[in-house]
Amino acid sequence: MRHEQHEATWKQLNAHIDEWVASSKTHTSEGHVASYIPELANAPADILGICIMDSEGNTCLAGDSDFRFTLQSISKVFTLILALMDNGEDVVFSKVGMEPTGDDFNSMLKLELVEPGIPFNPLINAGAIAISSLIAGDSTDTQVERILSFFREIADNPSLTINQNVFKSESDTAHRNRSLAYFLKDNGVLDREVDDVLRVYFSHCSIEVNCTDLARMALVLAHNGVDPIRNQRLIPRRFVQIAKTFMFTCGMYNASGEFAMNVGLPAKSGVSGSILTMVPGHYGIGLVGPALNRKGNSTAGVHLLGILSQEFDWSLF
Ligand code: DON
Repeated sequence: MRHEQHEATWKQLNAHIDEWVASSKTHTSEGHVASYIPELANAPADILGICIMDSEGNTCLAGDSDFRFTLQSISKVFTLILALMDNGEDVVFSKVGMEPTGDDFNSMLKLELVEPGIPFNPLINAGAIAISSLIAGDSTDTQVERILSFFREIADNPSLTINQNVFKSESDTAHRNRSLAYFLKDNGVLDREVDDVLRVYFSHCSIEVNCTDLARMALVLAHNGVDPIRNQRLIPRRFVQIAKTFMFTCGMYNASGEFAMNVGLPAKSGVSGSILTMVPGHYGIGLVGPALNRKGNSTAGVHLLGILSQEFDWSLF
């Protein structure tokens, strides 16, 4: 994007974002706030907030952008990157595959159905649990500390912490994730103890952020691992390429095809109603709208990204 084009986009964005957020917000009534993690059910159903950040760190904020929420599945993108940095591609891809499933994010169907019983990709729950076991560290405390400091570095925010209420709420009720983890253990995918791996997994899902943190994290991916604001490489280019490819093919779960069709950007959603996406080479985008559709993606958020992509011709195709 040339400088003048960025100026024009930024001007148009700031002029219209409130009206686009307002019209998208009406779609919150089509969804439901996640309640299978009881603590998440406390989120207001009718809110929508967004932050778009340019490569100099300027932000375009709209709606309920101050709302704080947990990363949930968005964390899986960054634990994948950390596991790649810790172990390299060969080890990581001996434990998880590279293909979308077409199934729900917490499905265990294919673990039994398809040999050798490794998760299809690192962004479904089973895959992310396998990735949690690969984070370097002698103890779960060290693993969690390393994840937190990596996320703080990418978000350029030393105060990121784990929301203990959400962590506990998920820990106490995660019967399905426990089943997945035991299945993985039996299939020889986990080298650590099930309870330890799950503690790491629930911890990174419970890291609390706001839309600006998400946009800041997305900005580093948008610039292929270089933080354009501090002018510093934080992630090797190849690992960002892997992460963005997974975001494109599996980031919105079994709605990834539809999202690719309507928005056309690499993205990752979380059951907190959050979405992290980016305009490669340019903007980092973070949004939250806790009301979810059947597939676990923010109804209003997906709608808003559809408008933005169309208005600015952001689809990669
Ligand atoms: O494991 C879980 O179910 C949650 N901690 C994360 C799932 C999630 O965010 C799926 N997103 N659409």
